[in-house]
Amino acid sequence: MKAAVLVQHGEAATAFRLQEHPIPTHQADEVLIAVDAFGLNFADVMAMRGKYQDCPPLPAVVGYEVVGRVMAIGSEVTHLVVGQRVVAFTRFGAYATEVVTKGKAVVAIPDHFSNGVAAALATQYCTAYYAAAYLLQLRPGEKVLIHAAAGGVGTALVQLAKWRGCTIFGTASGREKIHYLLQQGVDFPIDYSQRNFVEAIQTLSSNGKVDVIFDSIGGNSVRKGMELLQAGGKMVCYGAAVLAQTPTISVKMLSEGLGFGLYHPAQLMMRSIALLGVNMLRIADEQPDVLQHCLENCVRLAEEGVFRPTVGGVFHYQDLPAAIALLENRQSIGKIVVEW
Ligand SMILES: NC(=O)c1ccc[n+]([C@@H]2O[C@H](COP(=O)([O-])OP(=O)(O)OC[C@H]3O[C@@H](n4cnc5c(N)ncnc54)[C@H](OP(=O)(O)O)[C@@H]3O)[C@@H](O)[C@H]2O)c1
Repeated sequence: MKAAVLVQHGEAATAFRLQEHPIPTHQADEVLIAVDAFGLNFADVMAMRGKYQDCPPLPAVVGYEVVGRVMAIGSEVTHLVVGQRVVAFTRFGAYATEVVTKGKAVVAIPDHFSNGVAAALATQYCTAYYAAAYLLQLRPGEKVLIHAAAGGVGTALVQLAKWRGCTIFGTASGREKIHYLLQQGVDFPIDYSQRNFVEAIQTLSSNGKVDVIFDSIGGNSVRKGMELLQAGGKMVCYGAAVLAQTPTISVKMLSEGLGFGLYHPAQLMMRSIALLGVNMLRIADEQPDVLQHCLENCVRLAEEGVFRPTVGGVFHYQDLPAAIALLENRQSIGKIVVEW
């Protein structure tokens, strides 16, 4: 099989190399998939830059999701048949023409879903669904701040919060993304490259506060956000994009790390607020039934039209560096997918 292997940290043009590898064998609880397309996630950028501690040692095949057809099924997998079109969450290994993953991480999809739409559902929509519907259960009328709202997870969170009847404050950089957020129904788009988001919320929200914050930026974005929570408020931290461009083991990285702030449980208790972390890799490892529940619901909600993933770019595998650069340079909207 072919695999786009991460061979060294650095620029996308030199970090990946196309290699021939043996097709992996599957166990009783696993499925072998012939891959049509794999999705990109910001974690791949972090891995490429050497900023992702969960990434396997190099050389490594990264990637969290594939769209394709079932080639073979382990004896314990009963919900799929050979030849079925599927989307699957993978624990790395997705940048390849054949992939083995757990049966519980594979869900059948209709033929009319494009590769981009299906790929978006695996990691980005699953992360949003887990955080906003499984962990938090957003309620109508809640004021929700979503950072990087025009991105992959961001778009999913916006659609979920909209579906739940929340009032949405969404941050993004640049005019094109702000226009996109308006199209998505974000009530208060905030261009945080031009405007301090704290001041914007203090002006736009009736009491200057919000109920829920989804933060994938990290650093002082979290510390500032904590001040915006009203009683009963929740901060969900699920990323640290701010670390992407900092040199590894540098003063800048240390200061961004400290920028998150330090929180004593008594402080959270006194204000009656909560700080939550999400890592879908840990959920996949330790709660595979929960991952399956999220993926099945994301596919169902997409079939019902509640979820409408935006596909911001479809690339051929030879253009992988350009696809990664689009994501890294903050130019992408929605999902980026790469086809074989
Ligand atoms: N914890 C988990 O299990 C989990 C799962 C999936 C994703 N994530 C995290 O969720 C976030 C979104 O992932 P995604 O795949 O959907 O990516 P994405 O949102 O499509 O792309 C990342 C976006 O982050 C924003 N950003 C803010 N500061 C940035 C910086 N310093 N450098 C680069 N981008 C910056 C950019 O949007 P603006 O230009 O609009 O700011 C950029 O477009 C990432 O931080 C990712 O690591 C976590």
